[in-house]
Amino acid sequence: MSPENPSSGLAATNELSLAGSRDDALRHVTGRVLSAWNEFDHAREHETEISPDLRLLLESPLPENGTSVTRVLDQAAEILDASLAQSRPRYFAFIGSSGLAVGAMADLLAATYDTNLAVDARAATDLEWQAVTWLADFLGFPARTGTFTSGGTLSNITALASARERALPGSRSRGLGGARPTLYCSREAHYSITRAAEILGIGADSVRGIDIDSERRIRPDVARMAIAQDRADGFTPVAIVATAGTTLTGAVDPLDALADVARESGLWLHVDGAYGLPAAAVSERRHLFRGLEDADSVTVDCHKWMFVPKACSAVLVKDVGDLARTFSHDEAYMPHEGEHYNAVDITLEYSRPLRALKMWMAFAVHGAATLRDAINTNCALAEMLYDEARSRPDVRVLASRPQLSIVPFRLALPECRDVDEHTSTLCREIQKDGRVYVSPATIDGQVWLRPCFTNFRTSREDVLALLDVSEELGRDCTSLHG
Ligand SMILES: Cc1ncc(COP(=O)(O)O)c(C=O)c1O
Repeated sequence: MSPENPSSGLAATNELSLAGSRDDALRHVTGRVLSAWNEFDHAREHETEISPDLRLLLESPLPENGTSVTRVLDQAAEILDASLAQSRPRYFAFIGSSGLAVGAMADLLAATYDTNLAVDARAATDLEWQAVTWLADFLGFPARTGTFTSGGTLSNITALASARERALPGSRSRGLGGARPTLYCSREAHYSITRAAEILGIGADSVRGIDIDSERRIRPDVARMAIAQDRADGFTPVAIVATAGTTLTGAVDPLDALADVARESGLWLHVDGAYGLPAAAVSERRHLFRGLEDADSVTVDCHKWMFVPKACSAVLVKDVGDLARTFSHDEAYMPHEGEHYNAVDITLEYSRPLRALKMWMAFAVHGAATLRDAINTNCALAEMLYDEARSRPDVRVLASRPQLSIVPFRLALPECRDVDEHTSTLCREIQKDGRVYVSPATIDGQVWLRPCFTNFRTSREDVLALLDVSEELGRDCTSLHG
């Protein structure tokens, strides 16, 4: 700082606001985004390799001085082009999403304003509440309260923390003392339930993985017996977790029967619908979710089957007071005014982005009907794949039809002795080949290919390509496991 001018050196750093290159930068990024969206409209024939130049770039040291924004935007787009993208119509692995265009625009807007949803942010806070009610209306969950989180894992932890506090009031302050809390879920529940038990002091060993029926849904009678036995043995049952769409096969647990068990035993009922719950909005699938209205809490991932980009999940609760009793603090620097709880009083997070904007914009731009149709189409594609696979002599599927949009299948070629080894190799070959992308799963000790359809861009041709490519490469790799 110069002694003549004490304020020099305290001017805003204009360079960081891209002054001078803003218009160019925005036009440039728009062009890159547009070409990505245009490309996602169709499948591509193979994945882009990481070029030697790109490899060099990815190994370069911290730059002391910057490069032009348009050049760096090109580099970033090139990196993304050589990455797996769930937005592509033939990405069938795990549980993908779609990078919905208006969701991406919402993220740009939300990040630009960088609103913090920790405390009252005025209109953005009202928008978040509105998005919660829209989502609850869409799913048919009557309580219409809750909060947005970063993902299904966080939503499940949030709900189960509240369940623990209800079952063991004061445990958030005093700890669990000598109590031995337990959770009950399908043995095919997502491992985020185990994770929740681990970090909530319940312990992974106290998660009772309950047997499933022939359709891979939890058996409520076995859950009822396990709860009674644990009570008799001095445990404190905390919650039943129903899975509405298991990650492995898309099975939907019988929510109504579990609600009866929860009511009889005075337990919290949480529905983990991170993947499958959006199908409750579709009239053809609604019967699978009978009893949803009786849940104390539900998880739904907007970044899965509501199509918006990551990271966006919601936990909806019957009584928002349960969240407040679990998470609220009275800190001197945290004002408690206004009509609603501060978000920090009902969530695990402190600083929070406006995740709700992308869901709000998806509803506003497309309307609920279009989203319902897209979900229904994904289910219809799953049915189509199941029937088509069954009609091909060398393809095997599970005995039960898909409940939602996951259809495990594998090849049983006459010349192939070890189908499990062959399926593992085939999956790797498919991923290397790049025309379609699918992940493996182990079901009852057997290895299967496990496609999941949650992308609105996926068509009948894309699904048939999955079968065709699998059969073609499957024959090629029988020599390795013949
Ligand atoms: C049923 C279920 N619950 C929870 C999760 C975890 O969700 P997230 O990856 O958003 O944390 C998943 C993820 O696939 C899931 O399938």
